[in-house]
Amino acid sequence: MIRSPLVSLAAALAIGLLAATPAPAQTAPQPAATPPGYTAGQASLARAPYTLADLAGLKKTLLFTEDDERALRQSRAILAGQTGAILDVWYGFVASTPELVYFFKNNKTGAPDAAYLAAVRQRFERWILDTADARFDQAWLAWQYEIALRHHRTKKNRTDGTDSVPEVNFRYLSALTIPITTTLKPFLAKTGAPAAEVEKMHAAWVKAVLLQTILWSEPYVRPGQF
Ligand code: HEM
Repeated sequence: MIRSPLVSLAAALAIGLLAATPAPAQTAPQPAATPPGYTAGQASLARAPYTLADLAGLKKTLLFTEDDERALRQSRAILAGQTGAILDVWYGFVASTPELVYFFKNNKTGAPDAAYLAAVRQRFERWILDTADARFDQAWLAWQYEIALRHHRTKKNRTDGTDSVPEVNFRYLSALTIPITTTLKPFLAKTGAPAAEVEKMHAAWVKAVLLQTILWSEPYVRPGQF
């Protein structure tokens, strides 16, 4: 009984491990240039309910400066070759936390939905690079709002046509900032950047992820109170 969700999850994680492991060129699954369901920058996205001025106010409050933007961009080259390995760690954390893996449950089987996990994983990998790009413009705001809706009951499960629980509960969104950024730190250090630079990149990542989870909270907040 307890086993079957874990078995499905192991299968989902294995998909990720395959993607992360170098293999002969003709059989290696290549990361899709644009993962299915990744619609950042598309005109079809709704306009975000927050403005660039709102964003500036949040950045100020988070002590997020141009130095942080530079540190994020520095991290891009370091992380670009490691996104598969990072997702292995992040999915490992979700898999071993029943309160979190619940949000990937297939309603019919009661087990984690391997196809759903695998589809989200590709976009999550892409999100690492997008965050490191630190391109905080109007299009980025619209994409943040779309990701917000995809965690909220407005749009969860729609992108992948999944039959899963209706929404990710609000209380976990910002909380996941800590495991995400704590486990990222060794990857930031992996290519030999000096310790002080690793610290700066890590601090920038904590702020950038918290910033996004705050933006993703909007649909959960009563109208006018965000
Ligand atoms: C720091 C916090 C979080 C980050 C950085 C994050 C990141 C992401 C990203 C990048 C996506 C893909 C969005 C897309 O391109 O479609 C996604 C989707 C998703 N995330 Fe999160 N997430 C966070 C919090 C959580 C938490 C706490 C859960 C609970 C397990 C969760 C569960 C999901 C699910 C189920 C989806 C798929 C939603 C759908 O049906 O489209 N996320 N997340």
